[in-house]
Amino acid sequence: MATPLSFMSLFFLLLLPSFISSSPLQDPELVVLEVQKSINSSRRNLGSLSCVTGNPIDDCWRCDPNWEKNRKHLADCAIGFGKQAIGGRDGKIYVVTDPSDDPVSPKPGTLRHGAIQGEPLWIIFSRDMVIKLKEELMMNSFKTIDGREGLMQRMPRCRHGYFHVVNNDYTWWGSYAIGGSAAPTIISEGNRFFAPDNKTFKEVTKREHTPQRIWKNWNWRSSGDLMLNGAFFTPSGAGASSSYARASSLAAKPSYLISSITASAGSLNCKKGSLC
Ligand SMILES: *[C@@H]1O[C@H](CO)[C@@H](O)[C@H](O)[C@H]1NC(C)=O
Ligand SMILES: *[C@@H]1O[C@H](CO)[C@@H](O)[C@H](O)[C@H]1NC(C)=O
Repeated sequence: MATPLSFMSLFFLLLLPSFISSSPLQDPELVVLEVQKSINSSRRNLGSLSCVTGNPIDDCWRCDPNWEKNRKHLADCAIGFGKQAIGGRDGKIYVVTDPSDDPVSPKPGTLRHGAIQGEPLWIIFSRDMVIKLKEELMMNSFKTIDGREGLMQRMPRCRHGYFHVVNNDYTWWGSYAIGGSAAPTIISEGNRFFAPDNKTFKEVTKREHTPQRIWKNWNWRSSGDLMLNGAFFTPSGAGASSSYARASSLAAKPSYLISSITASAGSLNCKKGSLC
């Protein structure tokens, strides 16, 4: 069972489907500056209100007592290269009521059924639930999985685009921790990977449906990750440009700090009608 714990995981959960449909945009240096400005501004306000976290994406919705009624406002909270991503903002709300999973014919009310629909959807959960996926979850475009109030666990699986996986705590994943297809660039930084005991699954990375002569050119890098219980990361490619690395997210903290960073992480204890 894998447990991505930090808020960056939430960020990935919420924006992953939209990254897929976003295209390369403006001057990376400009994006860097904007991201740093909003982080600085959030950090300046730390301690002034309980909802301020130092993470501008969280601040954007956690300071709204009506966050539950304004769920889709979250789509406008993104910063950096995912800023233009709208996910399921313009779609209907889809409520997951059924935690079961049938990959062959997904039932209405299940997460998988919502994820494969062609129309945009904002996916929420009727209650806390543990969903054991029998196969990996394939997402169609323009979906937002909004796990606020619920508890979500998922491995990032990356398609086109740039992904910065930072300061997460991965423990006992099912078959891999970071998966990808369609030539994504993945920078893994300051994470803690604790491999399962089964020798078959020690590798953190998984390239799907692609021969090595192709994926050897994908840029996958591990930097400052803590590898435990035999975990290993197979890097490839030439690495990403430094400006993209700087713009992609908050600066990574060293992996030995993961325990303290994630100590209060996990599902948020948010209640309808009050600041989260
Ligand atoms: C953000 O804060 C850092 C550290 O104080 C500073 O070096 C940087 O110039 C600031 N950046 C912006 C865009 O305000
Ligand atoms: C490890 O996983 C593989 C694939 O699921 C399985 O066939 C094998 O029995 C497992 N080994 C152990 C020691 O559990």
